Amino acid sequence: MIHFRAFTKRYGGHLAVDALTLRIEPGEVVALLGPNGSGKTTTIKAAAGLVRPTSGTVVLGASALPATDPRARTVCSFLPQRVAFPDALTGREVIEFYRRLRGVPAGRTDVVLKFASLNGAGTQSVGTYSGGMIQRLGLAVAMLPDAPALLLDEPTAALDPDGLATFYTLVDERRRRGATVFFSSHQLGDTERLADRVAFLVAGRLAAVLTTAEVLARLADRGSMRVRLAAADTTTRTRMMVTIPGARWIGDEIVVGGPASSRPAVLDAIRAAGGEITGLCSEEGRLDAFYRELVGGDA
Ligand SMILES: Nc1ncnc2c1ncn2[C@@H]1O[C@H](COP(=O)(O)OP(=O)(O)OP(=O)(O)O)[C@@H](O)[C@H]1O
Ligand SMILES: [Mg+2]
Repeated sequence: MIHFRAFTKRYGGHLAVDALTLRIEPGEVVALLGPNGSGKTTTIKAAAGLVRPTSGTVVLGASALPATDPRARTVCSFLPQRVAFPDALTGREVIEFYRRLRGVPAGRTDVVLKFASLNGAGTQSVGTYSGGMIQRLGLAVAMLPDAPALLLDEPTAALDPDGLATFYTLVDERRRRGATVFFSSHQLGDTERLADRVAFLVAGRLAAVLTTAEVLARLADRGSMRVRLAAADTTTRTRMMVTIPGARWIGDEIVVGGPASSRPAVLDAIRAAGGEITGLCSEEGRLDAFYRELVGGDA
């Protein structure tokens, strides 16, 4: 369990996070989304005990230990946004260092190296690693202990599709075993695949907490459909503009906004007007517009 109660963090005169209240239960995965500088890292670091609240509280685990209490270290595992390890150490040495620090059994080093697909590179020095390999090593370190709370700050930022698939499987497994997972991301794909709920942080304020299904439905309703047509004569085009409100022409394509549920009717109207459909694609609404909408700006 992770429980933020009116968590507030100020850096000098700057209010980074303003009275955030959020409770994440065991076995639950919550994604933290928001624009750059909105307070995601500050929030996740507060749960890891690395940022001391200016006011409010953050408690972790079954016995609700304050995140800054040293005993809370054994309850959580934290992946920083910017992972850095000494260049001269090998991947295996890095993992061994953290394994001893966390008092994890020796056999675990090979397990996490294999999980991170670093078994080949475990003997290479970290200085020779690519960005994605360093991120995988960071995840391997975070996965060493079987901690009840996983705090992951942009865990997928540098992962390739293979790394992503491995990461998703791992989070699924931890969730099944009752872990509480709290991660930040700029990728809707991570949220869609992993999260039960999504917390939106905009300019330090918790703008909304929605289920993933609600987020996807709302974005789909704010999306648009592009339908490619075989060359249509002017009469056919005019007929379509009349029967499909809000339609725009871009080259050979007709672009229609509106809820996903209206799209079959649009396709019917195109055909009824004599249009010959040669292809189509639909786009979800964009997160940036959604953030603005949540705080009452122009969508
Ligand atoms: N140590 C610090 N000292 C002063 N200001 C800070 C400090 N850490 C963060 N901030 C400020 O607090 C705000 C929130 O930063 P934070 O890193 O939490 O954002 P974020 O949502 O994680 O952004 P990003 O998506 O870019 O990672 C920013 O305005 C940032 O400049
Ligand atoms: Mg951040």
